[in-house]
Amino acid sequence: MIPARVTLVEVGPRDGLQNEARPVPTAHKIELVHRLQAAGCTEIEAASFVSPKWVPQMADAAAVMAGIVRAPGVRYAALTPNLKGLEGALAAGVDEVVVFAAATEAFSRRNINCSIDESLERFVPVVQAAHAAGVKVRGAISCALGCPYQGAVSAGEVERVVVAMKGIGIDHCGIADTIGTGTPRAAQAVMERALAHYPPAEVSGHFHDTYGQALANILACLELGIARFDTSVAGLGGCPYAKGASGNVATEDVVFMLHGMGIDSGIDLDALVDAAAFISGLLGRAPVARVSRALLAKREVAEPA
Ligand code: HMG
Ligand code: MG
Repeated sequence: MIPARVTLVEVGPRDGLQNEARPVPTAHKIELVHRLQAAGCTEIEAASFVSPKWVPQMADAAAVMAGIVRAPGVRYAALTPNLKGLEGALAAGVDEVVVFAAATEAFSRRNINCSIDESLERFVPVVQAAHAAGVKVRGAISCALGCPYQGAVSAGEVERVVVAMKGIGIDHCGIADTIGTGTPRAAQAVMERALAHYPPAEVSGHFHDTYGQALANILACLELGIARFDTSVAGLGGCPYAKGASGNVATEDVVFMLHGMGIDSGIDLDALVDAAAFISGLLGRAPVARVSRALLAKREVAEPA
């Protein structure tokens, strides 16, 4: 059942940077994308076409997309919560857009200022217009394994949103553990609900690592045949509407685990560590990723400064 090859969707430039309090210059965001694609990342979530009042850090989405020198074989995605966002994303030439709903009413209100049903209604024209432009639509379901406002979330609550997303033609179902409280059996239980409606190739996991459970959850998903995960270089990030949530699982940590298991990711770990060191240096801190810390320490021993 365990896949021989896994695709990692690099969300560091979006999920990673969106939570940074200080503005990250557009040129640095672009350079990060360049380094990630040079390391072999083929799916990059590069920007969010959201309200700049809600997430100021993503206000330069169009400039970021315009500044990226695209590499062949790389697909670029962006978040689009509504038609206005979609228009911006299409004008920027993205390959894929992401609409994001929540499994709980409370999070939906805080994150996108509407109920779950209203959000799904709002996605209908977004999906239609994206498809008319030949662009794939990924759906993300936040708080699938716990909510900062509601607390526990049932698999049934998540499945209701999965079914609704499928019903309006969303191509791909991303299950997101926004606050990182999920554990492996719970992750499998929710994934099974997604797999009941979407083929395995169109289901992915998005695990924030706040409680250190993300690698275990990914392994549990691999056992179900899921072969696509969102990860964030250096472990950057958090969600502005989930206080205390830390970043997504670090790409380096996942790549190290996959390669150790003989699973291909297509990513060059050394080049990825370089990208992690680059962005962490700009942000003035060490990478959160355990693997980057270990490999950078090893380099330090081999080549003292
Ligand atoms: P609203 O205030 O209800 O919307 O926000 P509105 O339609 O009334 O518009 C208000 C203002 O925003 C207007 O400007 C609009 O033009 C503007 P004004 O007239 O006041 O000057 N506006 C926009 N500007 C640029 N791009 C747009 C856009 N839409 C409206 N697309 C809205 C509703 C959805 C827009 C808002 O709540 C929003 O942008 N939310 C985004 C929140 C967000 O980005 N959260 C983080 C990403 S999700 C995430 O991290 C979770 C994920 O990683 C999975 C997981 O871990 O759970 C994906
Ligand atoms: Mg997230």
